[in-house]
Amino acid sequence: IAAGTRAIHPTGSTVSTWDRAQAKGHRGGVFWMTGLPGAGKSTIARAAEMQLFSRGVDVSVLDGDTLRAGLCSDLGFSEADRRENVRRAAAVARILADSGQVVLVALISPTLADRECARQIVGDGFHEVFIDTPRETCETRDPKGLYAAARAGKITGFTGIDAPYEAPDKPALRLVTEKRDPSESARDLVTFITQTTALT
Ligand code: PPS
Repeated sequence: IAAGTRAIHPTGSTVSTWDRAQAKGHRGGVFWMTGLPGAGKSTIARAAEMQLFSRGVDVSVLDGDTLRAGLCSDLGFSEADRRENVRRAAAVARILADSGQVVLVALISPTLADRECARQIVGDGFHEVFIDTPRETCETRDPKGLYAAARAGKITGFTGIDAPYEAPDKPALRLVTEKRDPSESARDLVTFITQTTALT
């Protein structure tokens, strides 16, 4: 083996995708929820998780703040660290979706390029969901006080203030959250997921 060559031999599962889907009553898939800080990604993901679970769907949530507390605790908010954050989340989401789960990923994932990378990693079962909340509304909500901190210069490189957010061009689903309860947005998401992962 040449120096630097990694002798890795990934194996595929011998359990078929169809057998898994039959056993669970639905197919797996990744629902990639992107949006500004405070847009409602985590809230809608958790509400949808509960609704799906109560319908017997095998569902899990990969949330930015949660991942950053563990798997991604070494990462900050530079461009490179966000890219790595997205890459790791996509890799984990792929594993879970391949095992037949419905995976809700709630990450700002601010750039088109990083989300395209996530799409490549996940493959066919990738569905982009845009949590479409205007910056002004997110800033008014400011659930964690981070917009205020960014305005006061206590945080730099904050998405929507002094770091970019590139909205998706053609998301598979757009959830407009203004003037709607998060549980209503979650219901729309659940309807979309149910249609997308149905056994046909
Ligand atoms: S990213 O861009 O996809 O890697 O971000 P993500 O992993 O989703 O983490 C976003 C949450 O981290 C908090 N936070 C920041 N967000 C953006 N910019 C900066 N500088 C920053 N610092 C901390 C913030 O609470 C985000 O939470 P959400 O749920 O998006 O509001």
